[in-house]
Amino acid sequence: MLPTIAWKDDRVVIIDQRRLPLEEVYVECRRLEEVAEAIEKMVIRGAPAIGVAAAFGLVLSVSSVKPGEDAGRRFEEAAERLARTRPTARNLFWALERMRKVVAEAKAFPLDALKERLLKEALAMEKEDIETNRLIGRNGKELIKDGDSVLTHCNAGGLATAGYGTAIGIIRAAHEEGKKIHVFVDETRPFLQGSRLTAWELDRLGIPLTLITDSTAGWLMKKGEINLTITGADRIARNGDAANKIGTYSIALLARHHRLPFYVAAPLSTFDFSLESGDGIPIEERPAEEVRQAGGCPITLPHIKVRNPAFDVVPGRLITAIISERGIARPPYRRSLAAWDDRGKRP
Ligand code: MRU
Repeated sequence: MLPTIAWKDDRVVIIDQRRLPLEEVYVECRRLEEVAEAIEKMVIRGAPAIGVAAAFGLVLSVSSVKPGEDAGRRFEEAAERLARTRPTARNLFWALERMRKVVAEAKAFPLDALKERLLKEALAMEKEDIETNRLIGRNGKELIKDGDSVLTHCNAGGLATAGYGTAIGIIRAAHEEGKKIHVFVDETRPFLQGSRLTAWELDRLGIPLTLITDSTAGWLMKKGEINLTITGADRIARNGDAANKIGTYSIALLARHHRLPFYVAAPLSTFDFSLESGDGIPIEERPAEEVRQAGGCPITLPHIKVRNPAFDVVPGRLITAIISERGIARPPYRRSLAAWDDRGKRP
């Protein structure tokens, strides 16, 4: 299992994803602000991993509360800070809401008991995320046949989660079953999650892969070299519209044109059932420098205007199926996803 994030000696230990694959360096966060900056600067990234990091960040914020201080207020300030880090990832807000419930239930407890309850919840979220990903893998592996060539975009692997991965979890589960699979990995400009992270993960797992530039996928589909696409998601609306890394929309259109399946894998913590459609999904814009540079080297003039939306939204009508820990949902998504909407249901 990849060491994405861990709670150790009252610190959050995170593998620095900006330095992979060339260096395996770990960052230790002792304060909430350090966790918030790690999320913002993408030391840790991927929607489920961001959620777990935020939960540990909240533990740190309350851990520093002194007797007599208002722990509830400190918690809320910390939650507001974290909410400003990466607006698209639904799992971040899901984690804040889940931790908020703990505070509401344990408010009257002594401070030490509240801290303990929050840590217990964050650790449970970390553990559940791995179990959930294994279920996603088990549910989705039937979609990959022996001999298939699979395209993936960005990184929806162990590094994007507490472990095992979502889209990569499915590929992994099929590989563990003995199916011969080949993965085409989009490099995923500008942050290069594909070439730096997904290629590294698949290589470590012994899953055959070929790295391609983002503009190569269409041609390989035309040549019959890709059979299907699987990606993760950052937020999914009730109608199946799914936000994911910029470039995913283009791939979904290419897949439709070539009549190839396009699958999305995500845990229920990525679903935003309050949204009718993807129109309501906030799309994060990232710094222009990420586009003006590659690997830290300038690749254009410093004054050139840049747009850098970090995500796009794939309309549900382009998605062949969505795989979660509950199973496989197919269109029409308004109906199939309603079965996974637990709002208003008893825990
Ligand atoms: O900007 P990132 O690297 O956080 O974007 C990540 C993605 O788009 C992933 O595909 C998504 O979070 C799913 S991860 C299981």
